Amino acid sequence: MSGIAHDGEAERKAALALLFDRSAPDYERVGVEHFNDLGRRLVGHAKVTAGQRVLDVGCGTGAVLVPAARAAGPDGEVIGVDLSAGMVARAQEEAARQGLRQARAVVGDAETVALDGIPTAPGSFDAVFAGICLFFFPRPEVAAARYRELLKPGGQFAVSWWGRPDPRWDPVFAASAPYGRGPSSHTLPEESPFRSVDAFHAMLGEAGFAEAETVEEDCVTHFVDAEQWWRWVWSTAGRQFWETVPDDKREEAVGAVYAVLDTLKAADESLTSTSKVRFTVAKRY
Ligand SMILES: C[S@@+](CC[C@H](N)C(=O)[O-])C[C@H]1O[C@@H](n2cnc3c(N)ncnc32)[C@H](O)[C@@H]1O
Repeated sequence: MSGIAHDGEAERKAALALLFDRSAPDYERVGVEHFNDLGRRLVGHAKVTAGQRVLDVGCGTGAVLVPAARAAGPDGEVIGVDLSAGMVARAQEEAARQGLRQARAVVGDAETVALDGIPTAPGSFDAVFAGICLFFFPRPEVAAARYRELLKPGGQFAVSWWGRPDPRWDPVFAASAPYGRGPSSHTLPEESPFRSVDAFHAMLGEAGFAEAETVEEDCVTHFVDAEQWWRWVWSTAGRQFWETVPDDKREEAVGAVYAVLDTLKAADESLTSTSKVRFTVAKRY
């Protein structure tokens, strides 16, 4: 493991923690089924069996943690780790609400997984999950190497990540782009391991994983109307862009976006986005 501090990484992680703290109260609570569906699907693609010990990195509010805990059963153990205290509190509440005593979530950096009071000996996990989060990490290749170390031989590393966004929505992003700043899933740097399935598999191979397989599926997100889409954006990391729009430009920016949304609406005012999501499962050898 590299313990070398890289410029700006600590600040980026601290800013991400605060971003997700701001999303946490509404995340997956605005009436739009999105991350919980993807979490169940990711767990379905891996093979968690009763009694296994599982790590869920970037656990958020428990979209993966909860179905993984159900699959591991009462004799298993599922540990979620997330930078955001707000997200972790929600994951803990949900596990308790569902009576999943085998699940718990803690605040920590999932890139290094050095957790107070939680055994993280090499080879002590059967599976590591990373649901829609690995691309937020400054150095996903360092994280992947750490997961290889934590996994038993033959253990699984299961990751969900984005394929292409719905091209019908490109004009929505184009309409908002002049008003704010921020990262976009539409523009990945040339060296990103998330730019293609081959690049991602190559990164996993270099980190010590074998037999990587990726399936690409539709991620269909349905909004009853434009207002619900707007509330949903603010419940996700998508709020990061809108937070950079100056107050005196907000109304104009929202107007520009709503004008484009009008062209995408169905007769009942609803909006649907169909992007591609990828589920990758690799084995530690
Ligand atoms: C889009 S959310 C996904 C959460 C959850 N896995 C799900 O599927 O709903 C991304 C999560 O990754 C977390 N995250 C980002 N970088 C992290 C890091 N270095 N360590 C731990 N958590 C991180 C964020 O705080 C956030 O909760």
